[in-house]
Amino acid sequence: MADKLKLHRDDEILDVSAGTGLLAEMILQKSGPFKRFVVNDPSEGMLSQAKYLLRHDVKKIEFTGHYSENLPFEDASFTQIICLNSFHYYVNQEKVMAHFSRLLKPGGTLWMLDWNRVGLFKVASFLIDLLSPEHINTRTLDETKQLCRPNGFTVQDEEEWGFRVWRFFFLKCKRDEL
Ligand SMILES: C[S@@+](CC[C@H](N)C(=O)[O-])C[C@H]1O[C@@H](n2cnc3c(N)ncnc32)[C@H](O)[C@@H]1O
Repeated sequence: MADKLKLHRDDEILDVSAGTGLLAEMILQKSGPFKRFVVNDPSEGMLSQAKYLLRHDVKKIEFTGHYSENLPFEDASFTQIICLNSFHYYVNQEKVMAHFSRLLKPGGTLWMLDWNRVGLFKVASFLIDLLSPEHINTRTLDETKQLCRPNGFTVQDEEEWGFRVWRFFFLKCKRDEL
């Protein structure tokens, strides 16, 4: 994700479930100026680690703590939304995709990378959901793509790969022009 994403001077970025801020740190290390960078995560613990990790860039970043199902930003606030390793946690994924569409400017990009519920990983994902106290709703790449068209997204790039039993997908979608 960090290799693919390139920031421009006019970019307004939302890292929607930024966790400890690892990706934001990698992006900031290799990017030039940008207009706005929001590092969001509803977990106070994650966000405080992100604030520490990004302490040298704190003036360039806004930290917020919203759930992805309820993002109180104005329409068309962002040119890029990043959703890394988090979509499977969202209880109402349809609502989140509608929010992403609302929040992106026309022509903006949604970057997603997540677990991919295919092959043997279907079993692993089922067991993780069963044993974990968290809500886990892993989709396949195709199931995730089905949320794109109805929300005004065109898929521009996609990849699937595995690491041991784990399966992943990457999806880059463009928000259609109005
Ligand atoms: C596996 S971590 C990934 C963090 C980061 N993106 C990364 O890859 O390092 C998943 C993150 O999703 C966040 N999360 C869980 N449910 C969420 C929700 N409904 N809305 C937004 N973020 C959520 C968690 O707080 C956690 O930080």
